[in-house]
Amino acid sequence: MSDIWQQLAAHRSQTADTSILSLFDDTTRFDRFSAETDGMLLDVSKTSLDATAMDLLVQLAQGEDLEAKIAAMFRGEAINTTEDRAVLHTALRAQADTPIEVDGADVLPEVRTIRSQMEQFAEAVRNGDIQTADGGHFTDVVNIGIGGSDLGPAMATLALTPYHDGPCCHFVSNVDGAHIHDTLATLDPRRTLVIIASKTFTTIETMTNAETALVWLRAALGDKAGDHLAAVSTAHDKTAALGIAPERVFGFENWVGGRYSLWGPVGLPIMLAIGSKNFKDFLRGADAMDNHFKTAPLHKNLPVLLGLVGIWHNNICDYGSRAVLPYDQHLQRLPAYLQQLDMESNGKRVAQDGSTLPRASGPVVWGEPGTNGQHAFYQLLHQGTAVVPAEFLIAAEAHEPDLRHHHDLLKANCLAQSEALMRGRSLAEASEVAAKRGLTGAEQDRMAAHLSFPGDRPSITIAYPKLTPFVLGQTIALYEHRVFTEGTIWGLNPFDQWGVELGKELAVALLPLVQGAPTDHKDGSTSGLLSKLTPPAAT
Ligand code: F6P
Repeated sequence: MSDIWQQLAAHRSQTADTSILSLFDDTTRFDRFSAETDGMLLDVSKTSLDATAMDLLVQLAQGEDLEAKIAAMFRGEAINTTEDRAVLHTALRAQADTPIEVDGADVLPEVRTIRSQMEQFAEAVRNGDIQTADGGHFTDVVNIGIGGSDLGPAMATLALTPYHDGPCCHFVSNVDGAHIHDTLATLDPRRTLVIIASKTFTTIETMTNAETALVWLRAALGDKAGDHLAAVSTAHDKTAALGIAPERVFGFENWVGGRYSLWGPVGLPIMLAIGSKNFKDFLRGADAMDNHFKTAPLHKNLPVLLGLVGIWHNNICDYGSRAVLPYDQHLQRLPAYLQQLDMESNGKRVAQDGSTLPRASGPVVWGEPGTNGQHAFYQLLHQGTAVVPAEFLIAAEAHEPDLRHHHDLLKANCLAQSEALMRGRSLAEASEVAAKRGLTGAEQDRMAAHLSFPGDRPSITIAYPKLTPFVLGQTIALYEHRVFTEGTIWGLNPFDQWGVELGKELAVALLPLVQGAPTDHKDGSTSGLLSKLTPPAAT
C-alpha cells in the first residue's frame, strides 16, 4: 500500500501546476467525474483529481479490501474491534427480509417489532389516542439527549420541517441550565411529552436535564408525571429505576453506535413530527444508498467517491479541514451533525492494531448554510492562505412554490461560489478592475493584489431533486458510508470514541472542587480558574 501512497504523492507533485479549470478542456470531465444514484448526483469534477489519481485511489481502496469490509459490516461481523461489537445501523433501515445475523440470530425481527411499537406510540400521540394526564392532546415534545441522542434527531427534524404535522419537537442537550430553562419556559407541562434519550442512560448531561424535567413535570402533574414521559435506551434497568413504564421505553442493541442511531428509536421525535409513513420514506432513502454502496463499482459509488476525494484532499493535498455548505436552510444543523459523525468516528491517531497511524486521519469538519456563510467566512475560502475544500449541497426544487425566485437566487449563488473558487480572478483581470476604478501606477498594482483571487480551490457538489424524507435518508447514509470508506483506508476503527472519556472523568473529579473542596493538588491554571469561578458568598 505504501507504494500507492507514494505514487499518489508523486502524481500530485507532477500535476500541482495543472489548474482545475484546465482539466475541463476535456469536455467529458463532468460525466467522468460525477456519479448518480436514485436522483442524487455527486459532482467531484471541480477538484484536481484526474484519471491517474482516481485509478490510484481506487487501487488504494481495493488494497485495503474496502469491498470485503463493506460486506463484512452489512453482514454483522464484529468490525468494531475495540468494543467487540457488530456495526448494524444499516439493519435499522433494511427493507429486504434477508436475515442479518449477530451471534447466530437474525436481528431483523426485533428491529421491526421495536419499530412497530414506535409507530404505534407515535401515531397514538399524534392522533390523540395517547393523551395527556388531563385527557388532552400533546402539543409539544421535548427530547432530552446529547451527542448522537440529540444531533441526529434534531438535525433531521429541522430538515423535514415542511413535513411536520405532529407535535412541535424541542431538543435539550446542554448541561448548561440555560438550555432546559429557556426551553421549558415556553412550554406547558400539561401539554408536553418528555423523551429521555440516552443509549447508556448514564450520560451526566442527559441525566441532569432529565431530573430537572421530572421536577417540572411533577410540579404540574404530581404522580401523573409518568404519563408525560418516554425513554429511548439500551439500558432497561436504568429506565425502570427512573419510573418510566416499560411500554414507553424503546430499546436498541449495542450494535447501533450513538452517532448512527437516528434510524431507530432515537428517531422517535422525527417520527412524532412527520408521522410513520414519512419516517418509512426516510429509511427507504438510506436503504437505497446502502444498496448502492454495496453494489456500485468503486469509481461510480457515491460514498466511495466522496471518501476518495476526502483522502486526496486530506492526505495528498494536505488540506486539513473541509467545509460543509448546504444551500438549504432546512439543513442548518447538518454541519454540526456531520462534525460528530465524522470527527468522533475518524478523529483517531492509532490503527486497529494499536500502532500509530502513519498519516493524517479525519480532518476538521465545519460549515454553515449558504448564502449566510458567504457574508461571513467565505472571504477566507476565496482569499485566505489555507485551502479548504468546500462541499456544496443544493436541491433542484424547494418546498416554497410561491417563492421560486428565492430558490433561483439560491441556486445561482451556490453555482457562483464553486465557479469562483475554481476560476478565481487573475492579477491581470484584477488590474483591469482597479483601472476601471480610476487607479493607475503603483496604487493600481497595490489594489490589484487585493482584488485578485488565486482560484484553483476545489469543491464538490451534491445535487438532489428536493429535500424529501427519502433524500434526507440518502444524504445521511451517503456521509455515514463516506466516513466508513475513509476510516477503512486509514486503517482505524470509526466506531468507538475513547477520546471523549478523559474529559468526562475529569469533570466528575472537578465537581467537588467547583463546589468548594481544596484545589491545591491541581495545576496552577486549573486552580487559578477555579478560584476565579467561585461565586462570591451570598450576603
Ligand atoms: O460523548 C460521547 C458519546 O458517548 C457519544 O458517542 C454519544 O452519542 C453521546 O455521548 C451520548 O451518549 P448516550 O446516548 O449514551 O447518552
